[in-house]
Amino acid sequence: MPSFTSSPAWRALLDHRDALGAQRTDDFWRADPERGAELTFGCAGVGVDLSKQRVTRETVQLLVALARERGLPQAIERLFTGERVNTSENRPALHTALRGDEHVAVDGVDVLPEVQRHRERMRVFAHAVREGQWKGATGKRFTHVLAIGIGGSALGPKLAIEALASSADGPVVRFVTNIDPAQFDDASRGLDPAATLVVVASKTFTTQETMDNAATARAWLTAALGPEAPARHVIAATANHEAAVDWGLPDCNIFPFEEWVGGRYSIWSSVGLPVAIAVGMPVFEHMLAGAHAVDLEFRSKALEHNVPALLGLVGIWNRDALGMASHAVLSYAARLESLPAYLQQLEMESNGKRVTLDGTPVDFETCPVIWGGTETPGQHAFHQWLHQGTDRASCDFIVVARPMGRERAHHEALLANACAQSQALMTGVATAESWRECPGDRVSTTFVLPELDAFHLGSLLAIYEHKVFVQASVWGINAFDQWGVELGKKIAGQVLPALRGKAAELHPATAHLLSVIRRIGDTG
Ligand code: F6P
Repeated sequence: MPSFTSSPAWRALLDHRDALGAQRTDDFWRADPERGAELTFGCAGVGVDLSKQRVTRETVQLLVALARERGLPQAIERLFTGERVNTSENRPALHTALRGDEHVAVDGVDVLPEVQRHRERMRVFAHAVREGQWKGATGKRFTHVLAIGIGGSALGPKLAIEALASSADGPVVRFVTNIDPAQFDDASRGLDPAATLVVVASKTFTTQETMDNAATARAWLTAALGPEAPARHVIAATANHEAAVDWGLPDCNIFPFEEWVGGRYSIWSSVGLPVAIAVGMPVFEHMLAGAHAVDLEFRSKALEHNVPALLGLVGIWNRDALGMASHAVLSYAARLESLPAYLQQLEMESNGKRVTLDGTPVDFETCPVIWGGTETPGQHAFHQWLHQGTDRASCDFIVVARPMGRERAHHEALLANACAQSQALMTGVATAESWRECPGDRVSTTFVLPELDAFHLGSLLAIYEHKVFVQASVWGINAFDQWGVELGKKIAGQVLPALRGKAAELHPATAHLLSVIRRIGDTG
């Protein structure tokens, strides 16, 4: 497929951009006071206000024309019907099947019965742990979970448990993601092994950090409770059943998911077990329901009103027509502190690509840098850069309409700040003193969740997942592989023996760095 940059629809968009000239987003507001209503959309209960983007209604029409020309509706169908959209790994990407009830066939086999069976096992197990029916080796009920995993095997569960803190009435979950031994020490400090369940989440069950931490957890349990304890205290969420068995887990401790679930799309699978244990399976299933509601809309709604499609397209407009290399996610919810990190993996690991599906180097820019923070603390840290820095970032404001805590007045102040920041970024301010001047015309989208509950969290995450897919479809890249991470893993495998005193052939730069580390470690 030729690059999207050579398509007539993209050329029309560039002409349109040039015709907009020096007009600013607040000029659009002056010319079209109705643009707020026209550019605000809804998806599964989440409101999405695009009116502070540098787009007019015509821009949206032209972007939709681009999506049609690039075959987006057909790509959406290919995604949902289990086609092998992950071409480099020759797999479907069927995370949508984990939260729906539609029949989908992979290699002629309907996946729904298996998905339902896996979910039922999760339900039974989460319930048994929460009710104290599945106990530890000494008969104690589990008060804590050590959740071991990294990347997609940790970011989603961590985000969900934090976001749903008001429903977290089960065992307390602590995460161990880092190979840095300090993290295991910190996470396990004060825990009673006899009352701790270890959940090892790893799609491959080979990831170095996770497997090393799992081995440390096993040793920690065994030292305290004896060699039989891991069979009561360790469970796995994985697509590699065989490796979990080889590791020593009995079948009933292994909660499988399918190869066609990408790591960063796996929160909906058994990787979500720590969430189900913390908040209960019914709450976890509300999250699935929110995501499924988005799937239904994404698959059926006309592109003109289709929120994930519009978000993806506006992102392409910002990146490739307006040249923005950076995108900030601003969570106006303390409990969504981990959202920027979650989206960083979702967007950057999916669309941080430089060749198209057929291997041709792209002649355009793909995923921007995704970063962000929790607000309002970010306002007192990096917003200065957003308002007056020399680079321009697009922003997503994530706002929750109903209070998340008891003090209503605080919530009102939180909302006032969210509204104020997006307005200030757009309008800026002109003054005689140049250091006070804010140029404005800095674009943002505001997402409004009615409340921070499981349903709307599920909706929000699925909206972003599909946004990523829309961008990949228009760009013609594969959102579902991540070959770029392999080289570093391979080199780490070569460096580790050297660190352990074995002969290893190292690049001179690495040999030099190791000698610096050793010298400073010895003498510093
Ligand atoms: O190295 C990248 C990656 O493969 C991510 O895509 C994935 O989420 C993470 O590592 C963890 O992988 P696993 O779940 O197989 O341990």
